[in-house]
Amino acid sequence: MCGIVGYVGPRPALDVVVEGLRRLEYRGYDSAGVAIVGDNELQIAKKAGRIENLDKLIASESATRAITGNTGMGHTRWATHGAPNDRNAHPHLDASGRIAVVHNGIIENFSALRAELESAGVEFVSETDTETVAHLVAAHLTAHGGSLADATRAVARRLQGAFTLVLLDAEQPEVVVAARRNSPLVLGVGYGETFLGSDVAAFIEYTREAVELGQDQVVEIRRDGYTITGFDGTPVTGRPFHIDWDLAAAEKGGFDYFMLKEMQEQPGAVRDTLLGHLVDGQIMLDEQRLDRQDLREIDKVFIVACGTAYHAGLIGKQAIEHWTRIPVEVEMASEFRYRDPVLSRQTLVVAISQSGETADTLEAVRHAREQNAKVLSICNTNGAQIPRESDAVLYTHAGPEIGVAATKTFVAQVAAVELVGLALAQARGTKYGDEITTEFDALCAVPDQISAALAAMEPVRELAREIASAKAILFIGRHVGYPVALEGALKLKELAYMHAEGFAAGELKHGPIALIEDGLPVVVVMPSPTGRPVLHQKMLSNVAEIKARGARTIVIAEAGDAAAREHADHLIEVPALPTLMSPFVTTIPLQVLAAEIALARGCDIDKPRNLAKSVTVE
Ligand code: F6R
Repeated sequence: MCGIVGYVGPRPALDVVVEGLRRLEYRGYDSAGVAIVGDNELQIAKKAGRIENLDKLIASESATRAITGNTGMGHTRWATHGAPNDRNAHPHLDASGRIAVVHNGIIENFSALRAELESAGVEFVSETDTETVAHLVAAHLTAHGGSLADATRAVARRLQGAFTLVLLDAEQPEVVVAARRNSPLVLGVGYGETFLGSDVAAFIEYTREAVELGQDQVVEIRRDGYTITGFDGTPVTGRPFHIDWDLAAAEKGGFDYFMLKEMQEQPGAVRDTLLGHLVDGQIMLDEQRLDRQDLREIDKVFIVACGTAYHAGLIGKQAIEHWTRIPVEVEMASEFRYRDPVLSRQTLVVAISQSGETADTLEAVRHAREQNAKVLSICNTNGAQIPRESDAVLYTHAGPEIGVAATKTFVAQVAAVELVGLALAQARGTKYGDEITTEFDALCAVPDQISAALAAMEPVRELAREIASAKAILFIGRHVGYPVALEGALKLKELAYMHAEGFAAGELKHGPIALIEDGLPVVVVMPSPTGRPVLHQKMLSNVAEIKARGARTIVIAEAGDAAAREHADHLIEVPALPTLMSPFVTTIPLQVLAAEIALARGCDIDKPRNLAKSVTVE
């Protein structure tokens, strides 16, 4: 949510900033704006809607005012306070036009601050919480002088809530200053140029050297480098890191949509996530601030996550319980901390988050740590807040995922949570070393099977076009097939704006079967006839029941499942895998189905309406 770019260097700042905003588009936004300092004057352009609208505005005004300068910042806004219109778009200025601010997050005490400023005669031009910061910083500089960084520190100390703020001062054109609390911001270090970005995609075209910023820190960037301090002015050293992917990874590579490319990258995402995690027969995590004894003592696991990551957690529960015999509960992160879950030192909370920024998951992690539980996070973003606040981390190496709908990060999360299951089984001795190796090897065989599934998707695309005008689609599954059904329904909702529901097949006759009517497509995720014969049999009965009531059955079954064929109006075969690994391939047709239906309905599958890639507000 919200994208932020900052730049100081020799290049035309407008180009760097607008290009950076484009690379952050996937985060979700509804207006865009830039501020550039040139000739000791701030030049602002902002517009509701897509970045193309901002481009048009800048082009249409170029005859009368060219936006030039080498210091600048940009913002894509996902509205929280105030409607997504031109007026509320960022940047915001103080009354004199000296200070410009962009902001990601929510300033919780903004009403009090606004009232204070209004009683001092300040007139607000927007409804945003952000504008208060521009006025406060300007007032501080007028009263105390000093640098923009000094004023930012003083104001940041007064703010409550979550924020990344980036500021420009027309009178200090060689610097950009940023403040960070609970909202993402990273620094990019080039030769004679320095960058800020909500994530590294903002500047990956120019440098792969980045620096993590911590909580409650202010950074000043200049051409020759940067200075980081705490809000109290104490110098701080940021943690440098090298970005291990490049521009090509963040581009479409010949596909019409990022999502289509990212679906094809799923074998690699799983392969890279597993790589190097079995060393001398031992499962290794990436960062381990827990010792083996801590893991041995775990007697309860909670998995907390949102959306697709939650579905990965539901699959992980089956694997962890099966391999370790430790009870596992999977909770939506948004519910977890508000219901006072029972946690202790022996509880392991596994937080799954692609972005590592999701506010609900981050707060769940904090709640767990306050209650002395141990936290292990699974994350796709190096240096993000959730891994930084965790006791142990396992990174998914899926590379950048730009399409808003999670695809390759989902399969990578399933691989990672299964690795966590093996690590726990090893620490607790519930599996012998050779059994761990066998399971790990089975996981390593998965990428080839995903490739095989992806290669056989043409009939699914055809089917998708046939059923694209359906009113609704239902998805049913059992055991690990149930979270796959939920994930299939979520993908369809978010991409095609179609009513879709996932159900545990056994629950159908307790209510949902009333939804079945003539011709309603129902996608069935079939259990394996050999791996789970009892469930397979039960599922056949469920399919017979809905077919008898007119459903059009689309059955996803293991290759060679003859019984499934008999019950299917459309049969989609996927490669056979051990039960706990079957979601890696049963998910594929559901992703393809959702994407193709959405495309047939004219939807933009990379940027579904109302959605943000990373949800940094609760
Ligand atoms: C759906 C989707 C979302 C995310 C959810 C959690 O396709 O992408 O449901 O899975 O917002 O995001 P992360 O994993 O970044 O915490």
